[in-house]
Amino acid sequence: MTKCLLFFSSLCLLAFVAFSSTSPCQNPRNSNRQVFDTLGRGINPRSNYRIASSLGGVLSGHVYLGHIPNSGASCPDGVFKYNSDGQRGTPLRFIEHSCRGQPPLIYENQDINIQFVGSRNCDNFVNWKVGEYNATLEASLFGTRGGTIGRADSSWFKIVRAERGYHLLNCPGPFVCPNCALNQCRVVWVIVLDGRRRLALATRQTPSQGLRFPLSVYFVRA
Ligand SMILES: *[C@@H]1O[C@H](CO)[C@@H](O)[C@H](O)[C@H]1NC(C)=O
Repeated sequence: MTKCLLFFSSLCLLAFVAFSSTSPCQNPRNSNRQVFDTLGRGINPRSNYRIASSLGGVLSGHVYLGHIPNSGASCPDGVFKYNSDGQRGTPLRFIEHSCRGQPPLIYENQDINIQFVGSRNCDNFVNWKVGEYNATLEASLFGTRGGTIGRADSSWFKIVRAERGYHLLNCPGPFVCPNCALNQCRVVWVIVLDGRRRLALATRQTPSQGLRFPLSVYFVRA
């Protein structure tokens, strides 16, 4: 009997230690589940990653920063995806909002901004930003024009688990909706436009729109 009690109280102690060592990022709104790279290391906001589709065949390929045709921008200004695994994507960072644990790590459901790195002399064209809704396309294309990291004018994202890898969600963000449920977010899709794959918010698929699908991803440390 005493042994039994002792056993349970030590379990209790263990649980207490586990909870008291949680990082400040682990609040009810964030998940306490870290996001991991392809080698099982926690995603760190100070490291660079490439986003790779976790889907095979024609749905595979890395995400990259590219020129939107006829945009007139002096810098690459669109978020594209290659259509095979042959080419490496553009390195990027996940920047967490308001919560920097020690060591800094990215958690599922955490509000983040996404920023390409290494685009020389094009600092105003690196933050992921969801464009205006285009009724003809029935989609909002992703660009990198405008948007300030950590501010209301940038686009906000969350990472959640998918059947294979993770989904990227576009969410209202911590300014517009500090306590929004995940159902206020929308999964990031890929659509084909003029033969190239673009990241976008989209929903239904009509035959005339060709290939469009919800993106599932892995994170490869760059
Ligand atoms: C919507 O997309 C179509 C097809 O790419 C394009 O021709 C049109 O200019 C776009 N509309 C707006 C308002 O951007």
